[in-house]
Formats: sequence, structure tokens, C-alpha cells
Amino acid sequence: MSVASWFGDRLPISGRQFQELTNEPVPYHLKRWWFALGGTPAYLFIVQIITGILLAFYYESSPSTAYQSVEHITTSVSFGWYIRSVHKWAATLMIVAVILHQMRVFFTGAYRNPREINWVVGMCLLFCTLMTGFTGYSLVYEQLSFWGATVGANISDTIPFVGGFLKRMMLAGDAYNQSTLSRFFVLHAAILPVTIVFLIATHIAVIRMQGVTEFQFKDEDDGTARTFNFFPDHLYTELIIGLVLMVVLSALATILPATLGPEANPLQTPEVIKPEWFFYVAFRWLKLFTGTAAVLSMGFIVFVMFAWPWIDNWIRKHTRFQEASVWIGILGVVTIIGLTLWEAFARH
Ligand code: HEM
Repeated sequence: MSVASWFGDRLPISGRQFQELTNEPVPYHLKRWWFALGGTPAYLFIVQIITGILLAFYYESSPSTAYQSVEHITTSVSFGWYIRSVHKWAATLMIVAVILHQMRVFFTGAYRNPREINWVVGMCLLFCTLMTGFTGYSLVYEQLSFWGATVGANISDTIPFVGGFLKRMMLAGDAYNQSTLSRFFVLHAAILPVTIVFLIATHIAVIRMQGVTEFQFKDEDDGTARTFNFFPDHLYTELIIGLVLMVVLSALATILPATLGPEANPLQTPEVIKPEWFFYVAFRWLKLFTGTAAVLSMGFIVFVMFAWPWIDNWIRKHTRFQEASVWIGILGVVTIIGLTLWEAFARH
């Protein structure tokens, strides 16, 4: 009896149905990386899960042991420095890839009717990815991760009505205490990854139901087929991107390995407190407009980002600015880059 028929007897899955399921025709423009960028954060997320599980074997989430366990991983565990560095770089690249993918979706108008729901799912993915980065940064228990977490909790405290509750939820009490790190660890290693898995599954399911937006390019208008099969053609493209990314990740991890700053000292505030680079923009904004006004204005921007497909629809229906989204997008990107660079180079 062949292996195929042995499985066929026990799992009666029709080969034809399976082929139909995986042979989804993909529009030709997804041969360009810019248009297929969604697969890149998905790949990097898998790298994060694998390296994260390996790190979790050694990490100890208590303020008295966390820093020493990270030091042990970095200096004593076989290939610990490499796994830790790949985890750190894959996090950075995942955030970059999510932002680039969102920019592609935004500037091609691919969020418009009927894809508004998937834009909102994507926004939730963006926030979960950023929160995973924030909680991961706090786990190291260096001076900057400790003070970054403390400042983050104090900022959420200024949100009207729910701020105090959020701060207590984050810190497991009114101030940083013995239980805070394990709370960050549960968020970072369980709640947020599981939420991301659920969101990616929803995102992909909606894409499968709707298909991706079809664009026509001049150089493709030569009478040949305008689609190709997901399996194996598109999967090969994704595999090649994955291999290139693995080489890039390994090179970055080896040339610029993850470092370890001085251990957290709750009694000594560092001269300069900085979050990770992806929060520079929010941090600079909060410095520019202090207190509740800053938090409320940032909340408003986040609301506009979530509701953008409907706001854009309103602008296109009621005004003559059909491509306003492009100019608003350019303004947004320039502001984000400007504030990020400002925070990166400013001493305070
Ligand atoms: C972990 C994060 C994410 C993953 C893994 C992901 C994955 C994907 C994939 C595989 C596609 C198919 C086309 C492509 O590759 O570009 C896609 C399309 C899409 N994504 Fe994402 N995505 C993520 C985040 C986001 C974000 C942050 C947004 C926007 C706020 C977003 C909105 C969309 C929309 C609207 C489409 C449909 C595009 C079209 O029809 O052309 N996604 N996503």
C-alpha cells in the first residue's frame, strides 16, 4: 500500500479540492515585492515565534533574575547571542515591513470598498506588533527598558477615564513592582502573539474571500495571462524572499548583535530616557504637546487612522479632491519621519 493511499484511507481529503484551495489565481502585479509585502511580516512573525520559544527556555521574568538571565543567554548559552540578536532584528524588520505594507495598501487605495474591514484588522495588527515590541524591550530589565516602561505607564495614566486602570493593568499595581515583569512577559509571549495569530488568520481569510485588488500595469498589457497560481508559483516567490531575509537577519545579527546596557536601577533616573525607535514619533509628539492634550490629540490621530477608509470615501463623494489621500499620506509620512529623526538626534 502506498503512503498516499494509506493516508487517503484515513483522511479522505479530495486531492482536487485541495488543489483548488491552494491554486488561488494571484494577480500578476504580486510578482513585485512592493505589492506582495504582506507575506514579509508573516514570515518574520514565524521567525519571532521560533526564536522567542528558544529564548523563553532561559529567560526568567522577575526583576531580581531577568537581567542576569538575559546576560546568561548572551554570554554563556550556545548560540544564545545569535538567537537573541535574530529575535531583536526580526522584530525591527517586522515593524518596518508592516509599515511598508500599510503604505503600499494606503497609496494604492487598496483599503477602499469592500476592503474597509481588512484595513481595520490591519490596524489592529499594527498596534499588536508595536505593543509586542514595547513589552519585549521592557523584558531585558536594563536601565532604559525599566524607565521606558515606567514612562509608558505614566503616559497611559494621563488618558481620561481609563488611564488609571490601564496603568494598573500594565504594571500589576500602582507602580513598578515584583509582578510587573511577569505581566509584561505574559503579554509579550502569550496574549499578544495569540492575538496576532488570530488577526493574521482573519486578515488572510478576508483576502481569500475578496481576492487582492487588481491593478493593471502598462508593461503587463501584452495579451499574456494576467494571473498565476498561488501554489507553487507565489509560494516559491515567498520562499525566496524568506531565504534572502534569513541571510539579511543572520548578517545583521552577526555584525550588529543585540547589546546589553546597565542593569535597571529604580532609584536612579537616567539623564536621557528613550523608547525603541518605533515609538520615537509618539514620544516627540508627547513632548511637543504636553499632558492630556497630547494624549487626546494622539488618540484622535489613531481614530482617524482606523476610520480612514470611511473618511476617504466621504472626501471623494462630497469634494472634488479625488486623490486627497495621496497628499494626506505624503504629509503623514513626512511628519512621522521628521518627528522620528528629531527624537533620534535630540539630547532631550
Ligand atoms: C502582521 C501584519 C500583517 C500581515 C502579516 C499582513 C498580510 C497581508 C497579506 C499576505 C496580504 C496580501 C497582499 C500583500 O501581500 O500585500 C495583505 C493585504 C492587505 N492588507 Fe495586510 N498584513 C499585515 C498588516 C496590515 C496593516 C497594518 C494594514 C493596514 C492598516 C493591512 C491592510 C491590508 C489590506 C487592506 C489588504 C488588501 C490589499 C489589496 O487588496 O490589494 N495589513 N496583508
